[in-house]
Amino acid sequence: MAETSCPHDYPHRVEVRRITSQDPAAVAMLSEFVDQAERAHGHPLISDNVRLVLRDSSGDDVSAVLAVADQEHLGCAIACPANGSTVVEVLAPHDHSLGPPTELVARLIEEISQCGRATSESLVWWCRGHEPWADAVATRLGLVEHRRLLQMRVRLSTDRIANYRTFSVPTRSFQPGIDDAGWLALNNRAFADHGEQGNWSPSDLRRRLAAPWFDASGFLLHPAEGAPYAFCWTKVHPADSHDPALGEIYVIAVDPDHAGQGLGRALTCAGLVHLAECGIDIGMLHVDASNTAAVSLYQSLGMVVHHVDRAFLVPQRVVPSHT
Ligand SMILES: CC(C)(COP(=O)(O)OP(=O)(O)OC[C@H]1O[C@@H](n2cnc3c(N)ncnc32)[C@H](O)[C@@H]1OP(=O)(O)O)[C@@H](O)C(=O)NCCC(=O)NCCS
Repeated sequence: MAETSCPHDYPHRVEVRRITSQDPAAVAMLSEFVDQAERAHGHPLISDNVRLVLRDSSGDDVSAVLAVADQEHLGCAIACPANGSTVVEVLAPHDHSLGPPTELVARLIEEISQCGRATSESLVWWCRGHEPWADAVATRLGLVEHRRLLQMRVRLSTDRIANYRTFSVPTRSFQPGIDDAGWLALNNRAFADHGEQGNWSPSDLRRRLAAPWFDASGFLLHPAEGAPYAFCWTKVHPADSHDPALGEIYVIAVDPDHAGQGLGRALTCAGLVHLAECGIDIGMLHVDASNTAAVSLYQSLGMVVHHVDRAFLVPQRVVPSHT
């Protein structure tokens, strides 16, 4: 684990340590720090993708910086490869009775932007809706907003489910080991231009099939026989201290050759019906604000925006203006 000293005090002297997959003990410590922060917060603080990459000891995809002061871990920035870019997420647990640790977050982003992996391609900082430092950090570092991601939700009431059933089409469950290659090709075709969902490798799929939450019965493929050309992959999030159990439309797509024929609506409805049958009351999904086809489809099914995550482009080797 390389150490770089940090010249700024927040409030006391801080060391920023670089962590890569070459140091599994440091990655495990980072993972434990994330777990502890999430347990204390009672809610996920990093994305599923970053969590899975962090815990996959066979990969070499982790590049992170960890801020430490007096042996106390203050926060971290974790970078993972995405489709043609590197995605960064920052975790900075703080005392909510005080102001947000803007300077620390800015420093972590500056440090991660100087790590090897991050400088090879564009670096995108995803800032989650509940993080109070987004604007101050973006202003301080001169970051440009790049994308907005909507989290949309809907109550799966009896009436709605009855309506969704009228659109639903026959599906079958994904079969691990049999459908992997066909599904990857379909996913990568449908999401060719997407920042995180496109260009998935077999490892990206393998990590998810091995995740504790994976349930093949909620991974629906259409048609019910033969090679799939549309799918809806659902994921159940157990209740936590902030939210009731949520049933997520985790990934949904229709092969471009079959778009515009009602399959997107049918598969979304099939997924929501499946989640309701699992006893879930609230359906949820994430969608790019710019994906007008998908947003209007979800609105027509009664979904409303719950919160907005934002992505900022981080120039390589950011020079912050500490004031
Ligand atoms: C989004 C997607 C699933 C829609 O599937 P589809 O089969 O083409 O959509 P449908 O034919 O079922 O249309 C359903 C609704 O979507 C909206 N829609 C579909 N295509 C649209 C377009 N080109 N422009 C605007 N709205 C559109 C409309 O509201 C439509 O309802 P309507 O037919 O009553 O007007 C599909 O385009 C897709 O797979 N896109 C790439 C992957 C993706 O973005 N997935 C969603 C990630 S959250």
